[in-house]
Amino acid sequence: MDLLEQLQWRYAVKLFDGSNSTSNEVIETLVAAAHLSPSAAGLQPYKLVLVQNRELLGRLAEHSMMNKDKINSADGLFVFAIYRQLSLETFSTHISQMIAQGLIPPVPESEVPIRYQRFMTRLPRDEDLQAWAHKQAYLALGTLLTTCAILGVDACPMEGFEAASYDELLGLAGQSLTSSVILAFGTRSPADPGQHKKKYRRSRDQFLLHFP
Ligand SMILES: Cc1cc2nc3c(=O)[nH]c(=O)nc-3n(C[C@H](O)[C@H](O)[C@H](O)COP(=O)(O)O)c2cc1C
Repeated sequence: MDLLEQLQWRYAVKLFDGSNSTSNEVIETLVAAAHLSPSAAGLQPYKLVLVQNRELLGRLAEHSMMNKDKINSADGLFVFAIYRQLSLETFSTHISQMIAQGLIPPVPESEVPIRYQRFMTRLPRDEDLQAWAHKQAYLALGTLLTTCAILGVDACPMEGFEAASYDELLGLAGQSLTSSVILAFGTRSPADPGQHKKKYRRSRDQFLLHFP
């Protein structure tokens, strides 16, 4: 496998072939890769939602702006859903699990709320916390996109959808979660003209500022 060749091969697919041919094994690998994505302080402030149910995909497609056909023709859809708030409870659970696995030295229980406060004061407003959580979710999106390319799975990352409708249809609103970004996967349709277009990127000189 040549990594750059695979990254050239991939593109944001506009129409899938509806063949439902992505195997469960491959889908499991995609989930595992997203799960392994790093995040700031290892807090993973998001959940990954996997939708394969056709009826639900159809309903989500109705709330997906210009992306309706992509979702209806895909084998499945990943939705990254971020936590709206980072509670002391979530934070403490995370710290105790890290300690249990020997990843950080034990912290006295009374110290945990202090560490939480210290973390939160770096993100003083709810919007800042959400912006931070979105960044972590996008990083996992990148991990997933690259994994798709390596495995030869076609995909389209999308911001064009109504987050509030997704939250409602997926029952996220009640879990203090909100959808951040989505990725449809499957097999490119022979009728998708996107596969014949030249990939456009700014030139290397415009892109790279190099201090050798
Ligand atoms: C975060 C993100 C959101 C995107 N949203 C959409 C979208 O809603 N609909 C769409 O057709 N393409 C969407 N794209 C695809 C981009 O337009 C595409 O990745 C970009 O033009 C580069 O082309 P390539 O991915 O085919 O190489 C999105 C890409 C990213 C990374």
